[in-house]
Amino acid sequence: MVNFLELESEVYGQDIFIEEEKIMDNTILGEEKLIPGWSKSKDLISLKEMICNCMECPLGETRNEFVFGSGSPNADILVIGEAPGADEDKQGLPFVGRAGKLLTKILEAIGLSREEVFIANIIKCRPPSNRRPEKGEIEKCEPYLKKQIELIDPMFILALGKTAVDTLLRKNHTMKDVRGKFTEYEGRKMMVTYHPAALLRNPNWKRPLWEDVQLLRKAYDEELAKVN
Ligand code: URA
Repeated sequence: MVNFLELESEVYGQDIFIEEEKIMDNTILGEEKLIPGWSKSKDLISLKEMICNCMECPLGETRNEFVFGSGSPNADILVIGEAPGADEDKQGLPFVGRAGKLLTKILEAIGLSREEVFIANIIKCRPPSNRRPEKGEIEKCEPYLKKQIELIDPMFILALGKTAVDTLLRKNHTMKDVRGKFTEYEGRKMMVTYHPAALLRNPNWKRPLWEDVQLLRKAYDEELAKVN
């Protein structure tokens, strides 16, 4: 438990460092497949602790690590990708492979560090052979993402790629139609752009992605100016 807390405080900072007793009280792991009470978690650490052994879909059997997400628990911007890949499954952290390194650069290019945003995925466990997540897997996992959104309460969402946007907006979109402008997700401003992995395959999407993240930065600056 102590190691877990040390790890968490490294990832999240001291802000949400909570004492061992509190985690023990909230943790009812193993009682049922879907842990009762997880949806009432009051912070990200207890949420992670409660859901990280999830066996609600078959990906629980094949994953190496549950990839909860990482970053600031108070982030103004929540970045949502598709699903962990092989590197993420090994390390238990989102976007740490090739696409992840590109995402880090993209964020840095608009003056954001990985530590000040929160990075998560539509599903928390790696689909074998990096296939797209299946409908049933998304249905089981999406409530966890929704709870993360509730706890983080971000001003903006940056949705990366078609799986993220189609899941969040409950519709089949073409990226061309939905990117480049703000759309809304449950009262929050959402910018949709290409997934960094797609960019690695198709460099023609660099420019539109760059335009999209700049729009996000501009809108974020406007919000910051209002509160300062
Ligand atoms: N692609 C994703 O969508 N998420 C990750 O965490 C890594 C690659």
